[in-house]
This record gives sequence, C-alpha cells and structure tokens, in this order.
Amino acid sequence: MSRAQLLQRSWSEAAAAYQEHMVPRFVPWTLATLDAFGSTRIPEGLVVVPACGPGQELPLLADLLPNHDILGVDLAEGMVAIARRVIQHQNLRRVTAMAGDAKSLTQLSGSRPITGIYSCFGLQIIPGPAETLRSWAASLAPGGTLAVTYWPEIAEQEGPWRTLISLTPPADRPADWEVGIPGEALKEPGVELVADKGLDFSMEWPSAGAFFDILSTAGPWRALAILRGPAFMEELRRKFLATCPEADAEPLVHTLTARMIVLRKAGQILSAWLIRDSIFES
Ligand SMILES: C[S@@+](CC[C@H](N)C(=O)[O-])C[C@H]1O[C@@H](n2cnc3c(N)ncnc32)[C@H](O)[C@@H]1O
Repeated sequence: MSRAQLLQRSWSEAAAAYQEHMVPRFVPWTLATLDAFGSTRIPEGLVVVPACGPGQELPLLADLLPNHDILGVDLAEGMVAIARRVIQHQNLRRVTAMAGDAKSLTQLSGSRPITGIYSCFGLQIIPGPAETLRSWAASLAPGGTLAVTYWPEIAEQEGPWRTLISLTPPADRPADWEVGIPGEALKEPGVELVADKGLDFSMEWPSAGAFFDILSTAGPWRALAILRGPAFMEELRRKFLATCPEADAEPLVHTLTARMIVLRKAGQILSAWLIRDSIFES
C-alpha cells in the first residue's frame, strides 16, 4: 500500500469518528485561523480549502464570504462524503467538495482565479509541506490571501501528545521537514508574510486511555493501527499509559501550539476574468 493509499484509507475509515471526537476539540484553532483569514479583504473569486476533512470549515467560510465560490478538497472519500452532507444539509449553494490530492490546486480550480486558501491541519500530512505551501502560494491570484494552520514537529514541550509521538516509530519523512516554511513560499513573486504565529489552546479528554483510543481510531494514529495491527497498538497503549505522567488525570487537559501562517499576494486581481464577467453582464 502506498503512503497516499494508506492516508486515503485511514482518513476515510476515521471520518465519522473524527467528526465526532476531533472536530469539536479543534474549534478554537479553526476559528482563530478563520479570524486571521477574514481580517483581510478576499477579492471575488474562488476560495479553496485543502484537506477540508468532514467540512466543518465550509459553512463558516460560506458565512464569511457569501459571494465567493468555495471548494473543499480532501484525499479521503469518506471525509468528502461527510463534507457533502454538510453542504447539502445547510443548502450551501456556492460550496462544493471533491476528492483529490490538494498538493497542487491549479488543476482543481478550473480556470477560476483562486483568491483565498484556508486550510487547517492538513499541511503537515502532505508530503513536502514547504513545497506544498509554495505551490499553494503560487496558485493564489494577485490580491489573494492564504491562511494555513498546521501541527509543527513540537506542538507541546511536554504532555501526552509529545509522549505518544516519542513512543511511535518515526514517520517516513525528513527530520527537517519544517525548515522551508514559510521561506519557500516567500520566494514566489509578490508573496508577502502577514503572520507567522503560534496558536495555543487546550484540549480535554476523559482520560489518558481515551486520549490514546480516540487518536488511534479517529486521528492520525489510525494509519499506524492499519499498518501494524491490534497487537502492536495494544502494546503501544500499554507503554503509553505506563510512561504518560498524566495517566491518572481525569479528565486529561493539555495545551497544544499549532503554527499559523498567513500570506498575501500583492497586486490586484487580474482581470481577464473580471473583464470577461463585465462583458457578459453589460
Ligand atoms: C487532521 S485532518 C484535518 C481536517 C480539517 N481540515 C480539520 O481542521 O479538522 C487532515 C485531513 O487531510 C487530508 N489529507 C491528507 N493528505 C491529503 C492530500 N494530499 N490532499 C488532500 N487532503 C489530504 C486527510 O484525508 C484528512 O481529512
């Protein structure tokens, strides 16, 4: 199974549980990123939401930008199916969701100018995050804004997340994967840094055991569970609870720092697109 197939399968299988258990815990980061995104003027055009997961961000963006088209993209069909239900249920006429690899966005946008990119917690999963961010910045139309929040290598100095990572076999990626963020993207003509900041919020879990169980069914450890099987995961759970200083805490509360990058492309939206529209309107 390739890495892409593994991700597709694990996130598809996790989708419903992710929506139930992870989405509510991620709300403060979702909203803080939305705040930063919404504080800039997004020219008319298409807003793309790479790695949209089950689509909780789509109605919020539709509320913020009712005159924009919004396109959610996720690798996992299971996530996209839930995102489509959200769109249908809320009757979001200008919003669509599609299954696809969000590493490059230009193919996905048709000929519409991408004037906004909003993404939470997908960048760290996509192979080559620095190059991916650069390619997203390259696909922005002049005047467009990108707001991306992702989990850095160290999201907490100590705590259950850090403990679990330290017990997990290293991910198949270079140790210096963050080095070119956002530097690579800033090499794109006209791209300026608006913000690069840590977003600190707390998460609460019923117990350390529940933390492990949720992350290995509804979160990023599900891929490992598929690869290594139940005996491996049982052993990992045992080691985690034995070495987790917070194992007896009920509920378990910890603070995580995600990294938010906001970029803007200088200039005004070009206007073959707008000129074409005005010709049709006149
Ligand atoms: C942690 S979830 C984030 C979902 C949502 N944005 C949120 O903030 O809750 C990560 C998502 O990235 C998706 N993903 C991973 N690799 C991807 C890729 N190459 N292209 C598009 N989506 C991808 C996964 O399928 C998963 O839904």
